[in-house]
Amino acid sequence: LTLYLPRDTAALALGAEAVALRIEQEASRRGIGLNLVRTGSRGMVWLEPLLEVSREGVRTGFGPLEEDDVGLLFENDFTDHPKALGAIGDIPFFARQTRLTFARCGVIDPLDLDAYRAHGGLSGLARAQAMTPMEIVEEIIQSGLRGRGGAGFPAGIKWRTTLETNAPSKVIVANADEGDSGTFADRMLMEGDPFALLEGMTIAGRAVGADRGFIYLRSEYTNANRILKDAINVFSDHVLTDIGFSIELRLGAGAYVCGEETALLNSLEGKRGTVRPKPPLPAIAGFLGRPTVVNNVLTLAAVPHILADGAPGYAAHGTVRSRGTVAVQIGGNVRYGGLFETGFGISLGELVTDIGGGTATGRPIKAVQLGGPLGAYFPPALFDTRLDYEECTAAGGLLGHAGIVVHDDSADMARLARFAMEFCAVESCGTCTPCRIGAVRGIETIDRMIAGDPQAAPLLADLCEVMREGSLCALGGFAPYPVESALKHFPADFNGHRTAAE
Ligand code: NAI
Ligand code: SF4
Repeated sequence: LTLYLPRDTAALALGAEAVALRIEQEASRRGIGLNLVRTGSRGMVWLEPLLEVSREGVRTGFGPLEEDDVGLLFENDFTDHPKALGAIGDIPFFARQTRLTFARCGVIDPLDLDAYRAHGGLSGLARAQAMTPMEIVEEIIQSGLRGRGGAGFPAGIKWRTTLETNAPSKVIVANADEGDSGTFADRMLMEGDPFALLEGMTIAGRAVGADRGFIYLRSEYTNANRILKDAINVFSDHVLTDIGFSIELRLGAGAYVCGEETALLNSLEGKRGTVRPKPPLPAIAGFLGRPTVVNNVLTLAAVPHILADGAPGYAAHGTVRSRGTVAVQIGGNVRYGGLFETGFGISLGELVTDIGGGTATGRPIKAVQLGGPLGAYFPPALFDTRLDYEECTAAGGLLGHAGIVVHDDSADMARLARFAMEFCAVESCGTCTPCRIGAVRGIETIDRMIAGDPQAAPLLADLCEVMREGSLCALGGFAPYPVESALKHFPADFNGHRTAAE
C-alpha cells in the first residue's frame, strides 16, 4: 500500500506531522507494511493535511485529516471514511485546472530524482542540450513565456539580451524572494518540485552561456530552504556532473524590496539591499557586473515543460498576448483557498466566487486585492476582468504575481489604503524621495481624510501622481494603486465617519 502525505509548509502548519506519526504507529501496531511517500502540496489548502492512497493507478484522497481520523482509515482499509474525497482528479477545484508548471507538485517525493524523471523531468534539458543557445532562446520566445514575478517581460527577449552580451562569465538568478502578501506559488513549487526550478535554471544557463546560478530565497521560507539544499545536492551530484553549470542557494534577510531585481543583486553581492538605477539592465551588467538573467521561480520552472513539449503546446494556452498558464493564488477571506493553475484569461469573478466559493465568513465580497500589497482593489463590479497582463492593467490594476486576497463587506477600505502607504514607508529602501518621504506623507494625508479634512483629498491625488511618476522602482511607484482604487471604488469609507486607524 502506498500513501502520499504532503510535507509542504501549509500541510505542516495544519498538522501533517502528527498525522504521519499516527499512520506509522498504527501501521506498526497492526503489523501492516506500507510506503508513506512525503510529497509537496496539491494546493487545495482547505483540505490539508490531505492524505492520498494509490490503488490501481488512481489516487483517492482523505482530508482534512486529524490524527484521530487515522485509526478508522486503517479499520476500513483506506476505503470508506467520513473524510473520503474520492479520486483527487475529480475534485472540481483540481479537475478544472491546467497543470503544466505544477504537474508534479503533490504527486512525487520532491527529492526523488527517479520519480522526477519518470514523470517527464529532465527531458526538457535533454532536448536543450541538443539545441544551440539561440534555438533555445527562440523556443522560449515562441512559447510566449513572460516574467511570472509580476512585470510580465518576455523571458526569451531577456535571455537573448544576455546571450548577445559578450562576457567571460554570466549568471542566472532565480528570484525566490516571494514577498507579495497572499502569494505562495514559488514556495509551493520549491517545496513540491524543486528539480523543475533547477532544471529550468540549467536550461537558462545553457541558453545564455552562464556558468553559475543562484537561488535568492527569502529566509522566512525555512522549509523550502531545507528542501532546496537537499535538492541542489542531488541535482549537482547526478545531473550537473558534466554540465559546466553550478547552483548555489543564498538567503535574503527579510526586506521586501530585495525582491526587486537590482536590490536583490546588491544583497547577493553582500551589500545593503537598495535599488540601483536602470540602465544598465541586469541582463547586460548584473551580479558583480556580469550579464545576469534574473527570473522569477515560476518563469524558470515553466521552462522544462516548454522545452520538453515544444513552444506551440505552451502557447496554445492563454490569451493573445499572455500565453501559457498562470498560477493563481486565492487567499484571504475565502472558502476554498489555494493554488489554481489555469490558462490566462479566466475571470476574476469565476476565481473568487465560483472556484474560491466566496468568503469564508459567508458575507458578501466587498473587494479583492490583486497583485500583492501594491496591487489595486477590485470591487465585484469589475469581476468580469480576465486575468491577463493587459486586461488587468486596462482595468486600473496589475496582475503581479497573481495573488488574490479576498475581503468581505466588513473591510474598511480607508484603513487598507492607509496600510499600503504604511507598508511602503516601512519597506522603502530610501534611495528616492517620492517613496521615502511620499509614503510617510501619504499616511498622514489619509489620516487627515479619515478625520474629515476636505483639503486632504486633492493633496493625496497629487502625492499619488508624484509617487507613481517619480519613484525609482515599483515599490514607491505602485503604492498609489491600492490607495487610488480604494478611493475610487469605496469613497464612502474615507468620509471621515470612521476613526483613524491606529
Ligand atoms: P520592469 O518592467 O522594470 O522589468 C521587468 C524585467 O524585464 C526586469 O527583469 C528587467 O531587467 C527586464 N527588462 C526590461 N527591458 C529589458 C530589455 N530590453 N532586455 C532585457 N531585459 C529587460 O519591472 P520590475 O521593476 O523588475 O518588476 C516590477 C514588478 O514586480 C511589478 O509588476 C510587481 O508586480 C512585481 N512584484 C513582484 C513581487 C513578488 O513577490 N513576486 C513583489 C513586488 C513586486
Ligand atoms: Fe527605494 Fe522606494 Fe525608491 Fe524603490 S521607490 S528605489 S524602494 S526609495
